[in-house]
Amino acid sequence: MRSPGTRTWCGPRLLRLAPLPVLCGCEGRHSWLAGAGAEARAIESLFWPFLIGSAIVWTAVMAFAVFAYRSAASDKGERVGRAVILWGGAVVPTIVVAMLLLTGLLTLRALSARSPALTVQVDGEQWWWRVAYRVPGQAEVVTANEIRLPRGETAELLLTSDDVIHSLWAPALGGKMDMVPGRTNRLTLTPLTIGSWGGLCAEYCGAAHAQMRFEVVVTEPEAFRDWLADEAMPAAPEALSEGGGLDAFLDAGCGACHTIRGTEADGPVGPDLTHVGGRGRIGAGLVPLTAANLSRWISHTDDVKPGVRMPAYPDLAPEALDRLVAFLMALK
Ligand code: CUA
Repeated sequence: MRSPGTRTWCGPRLLRLAPLPVLCGCEGRHSWLAGAGAEARAIESLFWPFLIGSAIVWTAVMAFAVFAYRSAASDKGERVGRAVILWGGAVVPTIVVAMLLLTGLLTLRALSARSPALTVQVDGEQWWWRVAYRVPGQAEVVTANEIRLPRGETAELLLTSDDVIHSLWAPALGGKMDMVPGRTNRLTLTPLTIGSWGGLCAEYCGAAHAQMRFEVVVTEPEAFRDWLADEAMPAAPEALSEGGGLDAFLDAGCGACHTIRGTEADGPVGPDLTHVGGRGRIGAGLVPLTAANLSRWISHTDDVKPGVRMPAYPDLAPEALDRLVAFLMALK
């Protein structure tokens, strides 16, 4: 039995955790090393010189520390020590930090100098993302939790928040930017690789902060314009007329919070559902959009996303729930 005060050396066990910080960023969809955007590549080109530079400085400091620890005190040592403090502690760090600052500022200027071909407003809310496309001469397109962007074109994201501070970050595409109530911050993204890239909220914003995800779907410009034109249309008429799904939606009171353009549902609180069936995921990027997941989301919302603001509907009759799910899935 271990007596009180006895300590066990748990170094080897702790060492197994050492690669964790590195491995955490391994998944390609969320990795800034994926380099799927011009901005992410610029950040990566800063990262490696910074990392190598820091490693050299750290090694030199450690070498001096070991040397000082092992050397006996002497007059000569005192003089050498003063020179090391002056050069190693003031002159060299000043030069190194000034160079790093200059490189950083030049990269920042290059990133903000791009002129955008597209403007998207993204509003952070507890705990999801309202996304609005404003194209001159076209109806406003409002969607949620999925930002579609054309490959090779620079998009300017206007970032706002109505409640608390959030931070939008799609690591594979670019840097992160805070969304501060009362302000509009700007972030430019120039996607270079087609695919679906993961994004998340990078600022603690309350109970479901960790479940505040989104997708950035990058397509060819032509496919993007087709998608945008489709999104601008009201809800698919065949979905509205078939199977009594719209009645189930309205009877359950969903229209008080959600909008489906082309119907009387015009609630401004939650995500616009006009084309929800065309999205890849639900619950702010949490689970893939399937009939089973949608059914569980509606009936047991809080189980899927603890802390979520949307109330669960566990008492909905199974038949009404099925109609509702089929209806929402058909809203492409
Ligand atoms: Cu929104 Cu954290």
